[in-house]
Amino acid sequence: MSEFNLEGNLVEQVDSLVGPWDGSIERRYCHLSNISALLWQQFEKINWIGFYMRQPGEDHLVLGPFQGKVACTDIAFSKGVCGKAARTKESQRIADVHLFPGHIACDEASRSELVVPIIDRNHNLVALLDVDSSSKDRFTEEDQKMLEAVALLLGERLWS
Ligand code: SME
Repeated sequence: MSEFNLEGNLVEQVDSLVGPWDGSIERRYCHLSNISALLWQQFEKINWIGFYMRQPGEDHLVLGPFQGKVACTDIAFSKGVCGKAARTKESQRIADVHLFPGHIACDEASRSELVVPIIDRNHNLVALLDVDSSSKDRFTEEDQKMLEAVALLLGERLWS
């Protein structure tokens, strides 16, 4: 029996998982781990989902909690789809990553990708939520809106 209320829509479930945050990095990682597991279960036809965390004060991302195959640990803001989302602070929904110049192929199987920035209350980029699929053009505008709502909630609740 779960201690969480995993009913309702995805954003409500994420809300229930996060609960009160004590301000510690350990608890932030704890919640992000559970959220990556929740999203992994909820999304069909995906081969990787997880977080890249911004190194404080640097234009550099490091791997955070995720589900899927072993992935790249470090991504500069100048590289790949993640780098573009970090630089622009805008979601990147890429129908075919083979056509994206500089795409970083952590998993050869990845064909389409959605990356959503997580922004704190001071409008700083703090992390990214990255989801990959082996199917071309897997992610819809609906998926993007839903993950943007999740990212907004996380930015407000786990960074302040
Ligand atoms: N494909 C990403 C790198 C991260 S992996 O997908 C886990 C990119 O080009 O930014």
